[in-house]
Amino acid sequence: MNLPDLKEARKRTDKKVDYLENDNNIKKIFENKKYFLKTYGCQMNVHDSEEIRKYLEMLGFTSTDNLEDSDIVVLNTCAIRENAHDKVFGYLGRCKHLKKEKPGLIVAIGGCMSQEENVVNEIKTKHPYVDIVFGTHNINELPKLILNAKGKLDIEVYSNEGNVFENVIYSRDSKIKAWVNIMYGCDKFCTYCIVPYTRGKQRSRKMDKILEEVIDLKNNGYKEVTLLGQNVNAYGKDLEENYDFATLLENVAKTNIERVRFVTSHPWDFTDEMIDIIAKYENIMPYIHLPLQSGSSKILKLMGRRYTKEEYLELYKKIKSKVKDVAITTDIIVGFPNETEEDFNETLDVVEKCKFDGAYTFIYSKREGTPASLIKDSIDLKTKEERLYKLNELINKYSKEANEKYLDKNVKVLVEGISEKDSTKLFGYTDTMKLVNITGDKSNIGKIVNVKITDAKSFSLDGEICNG
Ligand code: SAH
Ligand code: SF4
Ligand code: F3S
Repeated sequence: MNLPDLKEARKRTDKKVDYLENDNNIKKIFENKKYFLKTYGCQMNVHDSEEIRKYLEMLGFTSTDNLEDSDIVVLNTCAIRENAHDKVFGYLGRCKHLKKEKPGLIVAIGGCMSQEENVVNEIKTKHPYVDIVFGTHNINELPKLILNAKGKLDIEVYSNEGNVFENVIYSRDSKIKAWVNIMYGCDKFCTYCIVPYTRGKQRSRKMDKILEEVIDLKNNGYKEVTLLGQNVNAYGKDLEENYDFATLLENVAKTNIERVRFVTSHPWDFTDEMIDIIAKYENIMPYIHLPLQSGSSKILKLMGRRYTKEEYLELYKKIKSKVKDVAITTDIIVGFPNETEEDFNETLDVVEKCKFDGAYTFIYSKREGTPASLIKDSIDLKTKEERLYKLNELINKYSKEANEKYLDKNVKVLVEGISEKDSTKLFGYTDTMKLVNITGDKSNIGKIVNVKITDAKSFSLDGEICNG
């Protein structure tokens, strides 16, 4: 995979889709038609789906959860792991079948898998009933592609790579909390990771545009924003302006929106200034997702992570000591090629030292085109699965312990809605990103309330709203 030099190509573009906004007849084209939208992957994709949904709604579609009932299927895919690939092709099988009964069905695939050449080739050769393949850089072209769908494959993937779009319109999932992209792509090129290839090189948005968006959200009643990027700590490094993530974070905090979050933080780019700003502002939430990936310095080097075990532990300690009551979660990969038992034990050692609040754990998955895919691997799958199991047991033990510290305490929770599992309960998150199922009145939805914690489980807390 060859990446173009994006410094040259980069443009800042107004992404308004005028032709949709100005043409009242367009909405009638798909009136009474339904869309089925399925999203895989990280928060980037979740947020991109909010853009996709906006366009579908502007074209007149309404939503359905039933694929068989739909007139357009849009799959927003992820390329990180093999099983996501299998699921997507499973859905495509259903679409192929459905298209026999409903020839007018439009099938569209977007997201990170669409940016993989081998996937596009697979679709071309084996799944010609797919109508549209669009990429992560040109979501704004989706309405045009849908309007032009003629029942034959239309691939529009790589165009506009390197642009930074502004004034993007979204149909947001929530009226309480919102995602805000601060940058696109990633420049880190960790050796196992496909993201820099599927999302392109790092492109930061200008700070004033981000602040405008946050202020607009605040004025529209939003209580929380999460600043989004694959490596938020590197924000601004690709811009000529002399500002960085610490400056951005401080300015976002100064808008006085009630809660500010950010994800994901790369340890290598985490500065002392950032820690000080997080500690200084009450509306910056004391929660940091700080992917470790491995506890072995040897494996970290092979991964191209640019820090050692000791450096990670030092940063961890610094954050814990400066940011009061901070919660820290992480990502860990087991079974990187040639990870020995000693390497794995180093990972367990870091988990024991850090006692993370939680972690996403993965078995290494070989990604075509990445440097790590060329390393010959001698470790069998069974060993990797055993390591994952052992790691998860330890992670779960510490996340339960972290939750138990909340028992009988009063904490602030932003109430987001009615619990999916129990319709008599509400749910929300603490400052530290703990999920709480709450007994209380519906009128509290959208408010930050005091909750007394009555029970602590491995992955959630129970509580009741209390006054004062
Ligand atoms: N930008 C973030 C996360 C990106 S992807 C970061 O730097 O941490 C989310 C997680 O998926 C990664 O943190 C990593 O743990 C996991 N991941 C990425 N590539 C993978 C691969 N090839 N195999 C297994 N897990 C992987
Ligand atoms: Fe992938 Fe590394 Fe970039 Fe994260 S920082 S997206 S793991 S290349
Ligand atoms: Fe997946 Fe793309 Fe996100 S590969 S994790 S959806 S950036």
